Amino acid sequence: MMTMKRILMLSVAATLAIFTITSQAEEAVKSTEDAAKGGEVMTAETTPNTADDKNKTDAATEQAKQDVPEDSDQVKKLIALHPKLISRIAPYGKVCFDGEECDINITVLAPAVEGEARPGDMLYKAICATCHDAGLVGAPKFGTADWAPRIAKGKATLYNHAINGFNAMPARGGADISDDEVKNAVDYIISQSQ
Ligand code: HEC
Repeated sequence: MMTMKRILMLSVAATLAIFTITSQAEEAVKSTEDAAKGGEVMTAETTPNTADDKNKTDAATEQAKQDVPEDSDQVKKLIALHPKLISRIAPYGKVCFDGEECDINITVLAPAVEGEARPGDMLYKAICATCHDAGLVGAPKFGTADWAPRIAKGKATLYNHAINGFNAMPARGGADISDDEVKNAVDYIISQSQ
């Protein structure tokens, strides 16, 4: 009795399945025929759609442009009056990954030439600015009166401390630069911080 019932159910399922497959196949054939017949009509219909899409894309581009407004005259004036404004309000750091283009303001240090010390301003920007621009970890801030008591110690001491390290000040700013280059950087800081 149980077997009979099962066979019956199975055959019902099979019939249903076959029916579904057949009707789907019929539909598919039908729609292919329709498509073939309406080929010309469809092309005619698509053309205005494409034009519409193009308009939409144009509008989107226009919108994106508007999202980044041009600096107003007031802002331009502010930037002109305070040249350091942008760097002062810029974030200190940015995360970017290996192999990724990074739009961070890294000042790339020109490679060292044997027997030639690179200029102080370049060295400062590439190495020392990290701490001395913002006064990180208690570093005397570039271009401020922070430097008065330091300068009072005398250049020899400052050179020595910059070359060999001094408390949180890492030796040579943590970079692989020559004594003369450290001195150039110190001279540059001093010249800009009197
Ligand atoms: C990692 C942060 C950092 C970097 C990078 C750095 N400094 Fe400093 N620097 C400091 C700190 C902090 C102090 C203050 C140390 C103290 O007074 O205890 C300091 C102090 C100094 C002083 C004064 C030393 C003294 O005797 O008062 C000089 C000069 C100096 N740095 C030069 C440089 C130069 C040149 C570079 C780049 C080549 C540089 N620093 C890079 C953190 C840094």
